[in-house]
Amino acid sequence: MFETFFKNYTFQSPLMNASGVHCMTIEELDEMADSKAGTFVTKSVTRQKRQGNPEPRYYGTPLGSINSMGLPNLGFDYYLDYVSKRQKTVSQPIFFSVASMSMEENIETLKKLEDSDFQGFTELNLSCPNVAGKPQVAYDFDLTENILTEVFSFFTKPLGVKLPPYFDIAHFDQMATILNQFPLAFVNSINSVGNGLIIDPEKEQVVIKPKEGFGGIGGQYIKPVALANVRVFYTRLNPSIQIIGTGGIVSGQDAFEHLLCGASMLQIGTQLYKEGTSVFARILAELEVIMKAKGYTNIEQFRGKLKTIEE
Ligand code: SIN
Repeated sequence: MFETFFKNYTFQSPLMNASGVHCMTIEELDEMADSKAGTFVTKSVTRQKRQGNPEPRYYGTPLGSINSMGLPNLGFDYYLDYVSKRQKTVSQPIFFSVASMSMEENIETLKKLEDSDFQGFTELNLSCPNVAGKPQVAYDFDLTENILTEVFSFFTKPLGVKLPPYFDIAHFDQMATILNQFPLAFVNSINSVGNGLIIDPEKEQVVIKPKEGFGGIGGQYIKPVALANVRVFYTRLNPSIQIIGTGGIVSGQDAFEHLLCGASMLQIGTQLYKEGTSVFARILAELEVIMKAKGYTNIEQFRGKLKTIEE
């Protein structure tokens, strides 16, 4: 019922984690592999291990979360070693997330991945809002085009990009025109809504320490923005570029809406952080109820078929 066709593969479920959540350590990655998720993605790697930003750097609220993790990760070799071994024991391809500190580091990391035995999907994170002094790459259209030109001059494995949210039709069009020039396997929309602020009114204080409290917003707050970005890229990109929908998926209904907008895979961040890996079974159960009530027996019967209001 939940089979999803993604590039040349069939995943048993469209659900997976969003990079950054439940994917830092071998233990967490093993739990992802053993969950009801269709596959999983590793924490975005930098060349060297990083501590990330000072704590507190994540804060949950009833409607979502704010984070400014600052790309803490155990380094490229740690995750490459893990996926090289793990890909032999899982039936579906794994996703490997890369988010470097500079264009040069990105290229170096991707060259190593190209030369490695990794056989899964690479997710190039162009949208981390949390490293002080490093703007989100994908808000710079020329830089994004230059990076992708360089990357596709040597990278032959399936690769997609993780994008920040866009908010203007002109920006949607500009980014889609750039992305359509490249043999991307997928686009993942959206990363957190960058540089929001959540405040504790009792303490009259911000809730996270880095960047004077500014951080990426996730969870229910951002679902409408995520749905719009998924819909935009689904309707503007070459059909060979598939969409991963991320942002505000808390329930089966949220998953259904992302699929209706055209997403093929769905990533869960904040709610996975709050609920643990049992979130995947719960959301699938809720999605099943919705699909059965509507008479759908598979996802392709409604994926991308969002209607507009005519007359
Ligand atoms: C982080 O580590 O700061 C989060 C990564 C991201 O939002 O891309």
